[in-house]
Amino acid sequence: MSDFQEYNKNNLKSFTLFDNENGQSYDVPIIEGSEGPKVLDIRDLYKKTGMFTFDPGFTSTASCSSEITFIDGHKGILRHRGYDIKDLAYHSNFLEVCYLLLHGELPSQEDKSKFQNVITNHTMLNEQLVYFYRGFRRDAHPMAIMVGVVGALSAFYHDSTDFSDINQRMIACHRLIAKIATIGAMAYKYSIGQPFVYPQNHLSYSENFLHMTFSLPTNNYKVNPVIAKAMDRFFILHADHEQNASTSTVRLAGSSGANPFACIAAGIASLWGPAHGGANEAVIRMLEEIGDVSNIDKYIEKAKDKDDPFRLMGFGHRVYKNYDPRADVMKKTAHEILEELNIKDDPLLKTALQLEEIALKDKYFIDKKLYPNVDFYSGIILKAIGFPTSMFTVLFAIGRTVGWISQWKEMIEDPVNKIGRPRQLYNGKNSRSYEEVNRREKKSIFQWLWKK
Ligand code: SDX
Repeated sequence: MSDFQEYNKNNLKSFTLFDNENGQSYDVPIIEGSEGPKVLDIRDLYKKTGMFTFDPGFTSTASCSSEITFIDGHKGILRHRGYDIKDLAYHSNFLEVCYLLLHGELPSQEDKSKFQNVITNHTMLNEQLVYFYRGFRRDAHPMAIMVGVVGALSAFYHDSTDFSDINQRMIACHRLIAKIATIGAMAYKYSIGQPFVYPQNHLSYSENFLHMTFSLPTNNYKVNPVIAKAMDRFFILHADHEQNASTSTVRLAGSSGANPFACIAAGIASLWGPAHGGANEAVIRMLEEIGDVSNIDKYIEKAKDKDDPFRLMGFGHRVYKNYDPRADVMKKTAHEILEELNIKDDPLLKTALQLEEIALKDKYFIDKKLYPNVDFYSGIILKAIGFPTSMFTVLFAIGRTVGWISQWKEMIEDPVNKIGRPRQLYNGKNSRSYEEVNRREKKSIFQWLWKK
């Protein structure tokens, strides 16, 4: 039994619910974690009360217990296995953070080299997968390719889908961390009609990714170390983020026993949405649409207008009601990259900085605690490095794959793990008799059909 379970067993507190309709009261156990909000253990609630809880969007629901990532949204704190994200971003590297997320501790020098070696030797793809790419149109969105190719991996790696075996579980984790960068780089090359570039074992993870993305058979591409460092930091900042939409998707898919490759493909599909990982692409399109700083006030008013669907992309967060600590690191890295590449007065950065300054002084954003999130500045870095906006969410997925697979592994190894099967509040028709088709009057539902 883990420390926190031991603690809760010996310090049982409860929360009393009183149903004043039938005069019944129900004691609900309170469980305390090592940090953060306590939880009401409602696992027996339906059995005791015949009622469900109702929480669309899971704004007040803890779906699992986890030891991987801690977020305090009010203080703007993000830690992985107890280490602050800024310490990891400025002092660690992505593969070391991968080891930390998977195994719970930072690696010794020996383990670090072994882990680097294992991942490096899994970066190649089965050559058959090259033909899989050829089935896509050249203008297919790279995220569509990622979903397809990652889902297809289980067709090639049968020897690591029996995840009840720890060795197969670890091989699947290593394969996904290693190959996701190769798959992403190949999706980019395919979309621009250039030949695929094989990984080079002497390069670091992020250097290898930049090499596979930007080198050509016709030139001797040299990775810029400042850009490689920025890329590595970008992956660290995206590595994991508690039970966000895509991670919850991976956990739910994995709870049915689906293989890890299919689960990560499901996570990629969920990340693609503009409210989630697709926001970094949407931020750049928004900044380009705003164009000149003189238009900022108009767009701020649009974002505040309830009747206008426009939202300030890269702003707001379900958990952070303070500045997203990742956005702070991203902002500093954007300045570093633009300086390294000698890009002066980048119009998008200028607009972003001005937009942030105006929004953070605006009562609407202050009252609703809307701050820049991880996506607000990331696109400026990626655009400066040379990625097209269609690749931005692919880069997010490359960083997040280690978080997804670490959370999947934690779930598989959790003794209380069971298939996720939420219930609902039913609001549909009550019982009614079947009508033969000749007795049914025309219903307005298909009115539009008859208009054609
Ligand atoms: C990521 O979960 C994670 O951890 C995700 C992530 C990760 O690492 O995995 O951090 C990555 O997805 C970051 C978020 C990227 N998305 C965007 O930047 C898109 C723009 N942001 C919004 O769509 C929104 O802020 C969400 C989706 C991020 C959060 O939405 P919530 O928590 O469901 O909040 P909400 O939509 O209920 O908004 C609360 C209020 C609403 O107004 P009221 O109905 O209360 O009057 O704030 C308003 C919203 O209209 N609001 C915004 C806004 N975000 C929220 N108004 C204008 N612009 C915005 N960006």
